[in-house]
Amino acid sequence: MSTLPLDDRDGVIWFNGQLVPWREAKVHVLTHSLHYGNAVFEGARIYNGKVFKLTEHSARLVKSAKMLAYDLPYSVAELDAATRQVVAENKLESGYVRPLAWRGAEVIGVSAKGTHVHVAIAAFPWGAYYEQKAIRLVTSRWKRPSPESAPAGSKAAGLYIICTLAKDEALAAGYQDALMHDYKGRLSEATGANLFLLIGGELHTPTIECILNGITRQTVMALAQKRGIKVIEREIWPDELARATEVFLTGTAVEVQPVGMIDAREYPVGPVTQQLLADYAALVRS
Ligand SMILES: Cc1ncc(COP(=O)(O)O)c(C=O)c1O
Repeated sequence: MSTLPLDDRDGVIWFNGQLVPWREAKVHVLTHSLHYGNAVFEGARIYNGKVFKLTEHSARLVKSAKMLAYDLPYSVAELDAATRQVVAENKLESGYVRPLAWRGAEVIGVSAKGTHVHVAIAAFPWGAYYEQKAIRLVTSRWKRPSPESAPAGSKAAGLYIICTLAKDEALAAGYQDALMHDYKGRLSEATGANLFLLIGGELHTPTIECILNGITRQTVMALAQKRGIKVIEREIWPDELARATEVFLTGTAVEVQPVGMIDAREYPVGPVTQQLLADYAALVRS
């Protein structure tokens, strides 16, 4: 994995329809999205030279922008083709893709009327998200907002303000990540991944009212059902963590990630987690 700064590498980035040298993929300081948080982005992984669930990621980018009241100047098919091109040009067999859309530097006011929409796609090597086989989570003081307070289903840059705060507070406290509650006090998700609990032999995962409906979440739910494991989406309250016998996270970056501790409570890396981790690892490379 490269430790070079992200803005100082060799390679090319797809930038508004062109491949540009990596170091030239820049925006102006008066870019609207930089001031008002309305960029949207994606994260996809490359396995064996192919982007897993590429079209789902391209479609979600378009949908995220729509939820922020703008249209991308490229179709899902064009975004798919651009992503394949940038992965191939950078000769990546494995790694990560980061598509980003933002509103440009045409106006300074809060209104985005008059801004142009820009899109870039970068792809680069990126290994495991966590170093630990089983991670420790701490409950965050930051809460996922209600759907009336934020477009929660959008992968919008502004929503990550609380994720970064929660994650850095967790790291400072000696944990690997934060578990966030939502505005009602229900369990929601980690700062970049969805949550699953095994309770009574069934998988329970929070409903998507104010979390990101992860593409990995949906994939793992289907894998579990294929194994005959019942999956239940419902409201889950923090006291139910006492009844969970296994806990894991899912996400493009984290894949299927066992959780070994939440606050002071420990969990084993049990058979269901291990099975789904193996099933996911096999599927993404198939
Ligand atoms: C806040 C949040 N929740 C969940 C996820 C998992 O989503 P996916 O599986 O589509 O990567 C992510 C990652 O994109 C995320 O940032």
